[in-house]
Amino acid sequence: MRIQRKKAKPKSKKLFIIIPFLILLFSAGLFGIYFLNQSHSRQTTAPSDEKYYFADSKYSGIRSKFVTRDNKREKVSIEYPITENEKINRLISESIDKIDRDFQNTVLLATVFDKPMTETIGYQVTHNTSEALSIVVNIKQDMNGAHPASMTQFWTFDKKSGEVVGLADFTEQSDEAAEAIISAAKNSISQTIKQRQQPEIDLNEIINKEALSNFIITNNGNALAWPLGQASLLPSSYGELTITVPISSVSKYLQNPTARKLANIPEPPEPKPEPAPTPTVANKTIALTFDDGPGPYTEKLLDILDKYDAKATFFLIGSKVSARANTLRRMQSRGHQLGNHSWSHPELNKVSAEQLANEIDQTNNAINQAVGTKPNIIRPPYGAFNRAVLEQFRQRGMSAIVWSVDTRDWADRNSEIVCSRAVAGARNGAVILMHDIHPTSVNAVPCILDSLKQQGYSFVTVQNLIGDMTPGAAYP
Ligand code: NI
Repeated sequence: MRIQRKKAKPKSKKLFIIIPFLILLFSAGLFGIYFLNQSHSRQTTAPSDEKYYFADSKYSGIRSKFVTRDNKREKVSIEYPITENEKINRLISESIDKIDRDFQNTVLLATVFDKPMTETIGYQVTHNTSEALSIVVNIKQDMNGAHPASMTQFWTFDKKSGEVVGLADFTEQSDEAAEAIISAAKNSISQTIKQRQQPEIDLNEIINKEALSNFIITNNGNALAWPLGQASLLPSSYGELTITVPISSVSKYLQNPTARKLANIPEPPEPKPEPAPTPTVANKTIALTFDDGPGPYTEKLLDILDKYDAKATFFLIGSKVSARANTLRRMQSRGHQLGNHSWSHPELNKVSAEQLANEIDQTNNAINQAVGTKPNIIRPPYGAFNRAVLEQFRQRGMSAIVWSVDTRDWADRNSEIVCSRAVAGARNGAVILMHDIHPTSVNAVPCILDSLKQQGYSFVTVQNLIGDMTPGAAYP
C-alpha cells in the first residue's frame, strides 16, 4: 500500500517518461478499483463476483442463504441461517456481516497475494424446539501470514420474541443460580485442560457472568454449552474449547419458568423424607437364652414365644438332641437360634483336650443331623472356659456366648421371682440366662415378655443382638 501511495500521489504531469507514466496509470487504476470495492462492501452491495443462493438446511424451519466470493484475492463462503423470525435473522446476519467486513478490509489493505485469503462462515443449530433456538456460528479465516483465526458466535433465542436469552434470563436473575453455573463451567474447563495436559490457569478472573452470558443449549435440551473459539476467553495456546455443563448437575438452580420453557429441567429431587422418628423402644433389644434343653417343656415355651412374636436362643445339650429333633426343627423354623451347650455339661476348662473336642463336635453333629446346620455359637456350661477352650471354639468357627443377666431360675423355682429378676436386670443389649428344663422358668416367660414389651423391648436372637462375631471370642 505504501508503495502504491508513493506512486499514486505524484499526479504530476511533469514526468513525461512513458514507462513510469504507464506504471502510474496502472497503479492509479488499481487503487480506484480497490476504493470502489471498499465503498461497495461498506454499502453491503454485492461485489460483482459475489454470488448467493438459498437452500433448505438440515434443520427444521430453517433455510440457508449461501454467499460466495471467489477471486484471486479472496475465497469466501458464508452460510446465513434464515429462521422464521426476522429479528433472529437480522441479529445473526449483522453479526456475521461485521466479521466479514473486517475480513474484507484486511483483504483490501493487503498487498501480497500468493494465494487468496479465505473465509468460511457456517452455522450449527444445537437446540431447536417450538420455544427455543440455539445457534453457533463458526468463523474460519486464513489471512495469509497471521495465524488462521477460528472464532465462534453463539446465542440461544426465545423463538417467539426473537430475543437473545442471556444467562441472567435463564437463571431469572438468581445470583445463586449463576454462581452454581459459573462454578460448574470452571470445573468443565479445568477437566478439559487436565485431560489435554495443558497448564493450569486461574479461571476466576476469566469466567464470570459476563463471559458466560451467551450460551447454547445442547444434548437434546439437557446441557448448557459455551463453544469457545481460539483465544476468545482463554489464551490462544489453549486452543478451541467447549464448556459443557449438564443441566442435571445444576437443575436445582433452574427451577424457573424461563429455564423450563427453553430446556429440559428435571423436577427437583424429592426431598428425602425425614426418617420417621424411630421410637426409642425400637432400639431396645434383648436376647432371651434358654439352656440345658431340649426338654419336656420346650414345646410349650415355643408356643409362648410364638404368641409374643419373640425370638430366643437355645443352648442345647447334645445328648438330648436326637430324642427331640422335631423340637429343634420347630425352633429353627420359627426363627430361633440354636447353640451348642456341650454333650454332657462338664466344665470345659477341666476336661482333657480329647473330651473337649468330643463335647463340642458330638453336639454340633447332633444338631446338624436334626436341622441340617451346625451352630456357630457355644455356651460353655457354668460359663467356664479358658484360652485353650476358646482356641477349640475358634478352630471350629464358633464364638462363646455367656450372659449379662442371670435369673438364677434353677435355684428359685418360682415363676414370679424369675420374672422379677429378668425384668429388673433388663437393659438394651442384655443377654438373659434361663433354663427351659424347669416348668417354673417356662411359666415365667409370659410375665417377662409382657413386662418388657410394655417397656418397649423387643426380643431377638443372639446373632441379631450382637451381629458379626469373631470365632474364638466371648460375648457379650
Ligand atoms: Ni447349663
